[in-house]
Amino acid sequence: KNSTHQKLIEMHEHAKSFFHHILVNTEVGKDAMTYLEQRGISREYIDEFELGFAPDNRDILLKVMQKEFKDGLFDESGLFVERDDGTFMDRFFNRVMFPIKDAKGKTIGFSGRQMPTDQPDKDKKQPKYLNSPETEIFNKREVIYNFHLARPHIRKTNEVYLFEGFMDVMASYMSGVKNAVATMGTSLTEQQIHRLERVCEDVTICYDGDSAGINATNRAIELLTNNTAIGVQVVSLPNKLDPDDYRMTYGTDALENELLHHKKTVFQFKRVYLMQDFNLANESDVLAYLELVLKELAMIPSVIEKDFALTQLSEEFNLSKETLQLQLNQLIQD
Ligand code: UTP
Ligand code: MN
Ligand code: MN
Ligand code: MN
Ligand code: MN
Repeated sequence: KNSTHQKLIEMHEHAKSFFHHILVNTEVGKDAMTYLEQRGISREYIDEFELGFAPDNRDILLKVMQKEFKDGLFDESGLFVERDDGTFMDRFFNRVMFPIKDAKGKTIGFSGRQMPTDQPDKDKKQPKYLNSPETEIFNKREVIYNFHLARPHIRKTNEVYLFEGFMDVMASYMSGVKNAVATMGTSLTEQQIHRLERVCEDVTICYDGDSAGINATNRAIELLTNNTAIGVQVVSLPNKLDPDDYRMTYGTDALENELLHHKKTVFQFKRVYLMQDFNLANESDVLAYLELVLKELAMIPSVIEKDFALTQLSEEFNLSKETLQLQLNQLIQD
């Protein structure tokens, strides 16, 4: 790779070490350390994920970098923002820093989480997570959070768990499910799935249990099934919890159990997903719902899964399985 590329990576590696040092070794990092402790992140994982803290100061990183990199690429790095007068100031301040790494484990960007004590005034509302902008080394559509640490586990299990957030990846990892990655707060992209496709045959989607997460799950399923031969399964968490909330509420063993032993097939996920739009107390809604569900079922190649689903629907809606089978056969022919 060219020298600009190298230099930008060196700058990010240096910034990562600096933020980590501030968090774990200094008084300035103490509140952030307490915050992470309250969120159940032990020192072991703070070190493994190399979490850091950016102090509440707009030129501390700038000074460190100016000293270390005489001809630093301050503009191109994305680590700074330019003032009107052309001088630079730190982009990240008073945030818990998550380094974002490439497949080799080199830092190429950051996401900084707001401190819980940081109550932004409504006029200048700051995002909960502030991400690095796109740079020569940081492309949000390509990067997969934690791919570097997860890859050997993905290969070994032939499966990857896909999460929404950094904290969810860490929660999974801490519960022993280490084949865990996330996209960068954006929806899954084709570039990302082609990278995953090269290392495993199965994806388990475990997005947040809120409606945004459920809709994103549906979109991810479409993208995966339309573009790859990857097998897709879904873990749906209850009560709008995300995986990290689930761990904090029920513990790491319970999260591990959900992730490993409560996977739904795509059809079972869709069956529940489609219910949202209907009031199943109405007979006409039941009919419309069943029509949609059978359409989904018609696209499932597995004969066993079809049979299983028909038995389930027949019991749930008190219809004969033969009737459902007839309707399904019609849909398959169309
Ligand atoms: P969530 O809103 O679900 O946050 O966004 P979270 O991961 O549960 O965060 P905690 O538990 O409150 O700390 C999911 C992901 O979307 C991206 C981040 O990657 C986040 O992890 N995101 C969210 C952003 O990039 N910017 C934001 O302002 C919010
Ligand atoms: Mn360390
Ligand atoms: Mn969410
Ligand atoms: Mn969440
Ligand atoms: Mn969360």
